[in-house]
Amino acid sequence: MGNKGSSRRNPKSKLSTANVKEIVPETKDFKYYFNNDDNIHRQHDLYFLKKHIFDCGISSPIKEKLITGCKVLDLGCGPATFLLDLAVQYPDSNFLGVDIEPLFPSEIKPKNLKFKIIDILQRLPFPDNEFDLVHTASVLYLLPSEKIDFLINEMIRITKPNGYIEFCESILNNQSKGIGEKFGHLLHGYGLVSKLHKADIKVVVKLSQMLAAKSNVNKISVKDKLLVVGKNGGNLGIIMQDILTWFNNSSELFVVDICRQLNLTKKQYDQLVVDAFNELNFTCPRMTLRRVFAQKTPV
Ligand SMILES: C[S@@+](CC[C@H](N)C(=O)[O-])C[C@H]1O[C@@H](n2cnc3c(N)ncnc32)[C@H](O)[C@@H]1O
Repeated sequence: MGNKGSSRRNPKSKLSTANVKEIVPETKDFKYYFNNDDNIHRQHDLYFLKKHIFDCGISSPIKEKLITGCKVLDLGCGPATFLLDLAVQYPDSNFLGVDIEPLFPSEIKPKNLKFKIIDILQRLPFPDNEFDLVHTASVLYLLPSEKIDFLINEMIRITKPNGYIEFCESILNNQSKGIGEKFGHLLHGYGLVSKLHKADIKVVVKLSQMLAAKSNVNKISVKDKLLVVGKNGGNLGIIMQDILTWFNNSSELFVVDICRQLNLTKKQYDQLVVDAFNELNFTCPRMTLRRVFAQKTPV
């Protein structure tokens, strides 16, 4: 679909990680660790997996508005699977995707879908009360945790009264039920790398409390769907396992970080990934897919 910029990503992808302990990589933001070409199809798969499990692309009750025509913004839209799906389904509504990187399709896209490059950690360049839905998925866990409250305030500010904000994130960590030792160790390392970049992989757990502290939102809802990662979780578990094989071919900068955090060589990390994925054949790690949505209080 004409995704731009892919060849510019991961400028250090030729970096040799033969012995990561000796390498001092250029500092690069955590947010860029995930956007390589191999992972774009995984982002598409994850959207359709979530749509299947929740039985809809979004949970906020705005279907009537989408049919008659409204404005939707997606923050950190990535390859824009969510927006492409909704824009085709609701031709009388207008959709805008924003991301810090141009992963979204530049040419072949519905007329009611536009994109902008912006950093969502800055004040969002939109007027107050502009959108009927402000949505974000699989983004919060990448952001510095001290910025999340600012982002929520911005999302509320640009949402129309009676409009909705919606978040969709996953909960899977070394303390999740059914996690085996190897997979748990890999997720522990992942958590340490997140911390290194001031991000919090468990931020979604606090989200409803953070929203409850706001005076201008109500009707806060949390919808959870559970799945078991790996073949013991059936077809959905196998799809999720494939999405998580990101660990196998993640950016070299991530590998350098996780090796340092777990005190492993690249060879040992590769073996850990193999062992962790083999372990999925005889464990049942539970993952939660969580949607949190809330209505902006009418003035
Ligand atoms: C894991 S992807 C999720 C993409 C999409 N929301 C989805 O569900 O498929 C995270 C996206 O957030 C974007 N992102 C991270 N930090 C950002 C920032 N500060 N401003 C804008 N986009 C950001 C990344 O570039 C990436 O495209």
